[in-house]
Amino acid sequence: MLEVDRLGAGYGAAPALWEVSLAIAERELVCVLGPNGAGKTTLINAIAGLLPARGGRIVMDGRELTRAAPHRFCASGIAIVPEGRRLFAGMTVRENLEIGSYLPQARRERARSLDYVCALFPAVREKLDHAAGSLSGGQQQMVAIGRALMARPRLLLLDEPSLGLSPAIVLAMFDAIREVNAAGTAVLLVEQNVAMALDLAGRAYLLEEGRVVAEGPPAALFDRPELKRAYLGHDPVR
Ligand SMILES: Nc1ncnc2c1ncn2[C@@H]1O[C@H](COP(=O)(O)OP(=O)(O)OP(=O)(O)O)[C@@H](O)[C@H]1O
Ligand SMILES: [Mg+2]
Repeated sequence: MLEVDRLGAGYGAAPALWEVSLAIAERELVCVLGPNGAGKTTLINAIAGLLPARGGRIVMDGRELTRAAPHRFCASGIAIVPEGRRLFAGMTVRENLEIGSYLPQARRERARSLDYVCALFPAVREKLDHAAGSLSGGQQQMVAIGRALMARPRLLLLDEPSLGLSPAIVLAMFDAIREVNAAGTAVLLVEQNVAMALDLAGRAYLLEEGRVVAEGPPAALFDRPELKRAYLGHDPVR
């Protein structure tokens, strides 16, 4: 479904990604691991069309998106839950969710999508008319995921959805991600919690200093020296 071929990206004069290649099949759940500053957010933002590629190609369903406008990425079925959630704090939860369905096709299914999001996250239904900024961190993350789902994506990009959340909320979040994936949406998950991510994912890529240094099924990756090196000093929950 998604093919990323030798992608380059960066900020100002500084490159942040070098020739990164990856592929995601329909319905797959793939994880991107790597230490702080490895380029995970840069990669996911480039795949969402939020950061221009400087080299290589991004191809979705055989159609090249590399230099397309951000809304074309969305129209092709890609939606992102960005790092730090980026909700509109002063707007209601309902308004934040509706922003996710601004393209015509998603807008037609807005009511059904809202039902789906509320069924997935019952706490969100309770808060629809509250200001997003008044919610707890976990609830805000649910709204951020809900907003992306309102676009009815076939590929959901998640940038560290568990960051700063309590262990119980993290478990609920991962259950929801599993459920979304089981319903047929492919997922690309950036996660610092290595053990949980590898538990969820069918396949993972390890990024280091802007390059893919290892990839494969979780069991094979878990014992790789690259992973231990990357996370020396980090402390996975399990
Ligand atoms: N807006 C920016 N302007 C300049 N440099 C940036 C910007 N964002 C990221 N970088 C740099 O690009 C590199 C990759 O950063 P990126 O945010 O993609 O890493 P990350 O793997 O997501 O890290 P983290 O785990 O901290 O979220 C880093 O060297 C970072 O300092
Ligand atoms: Mg990041």
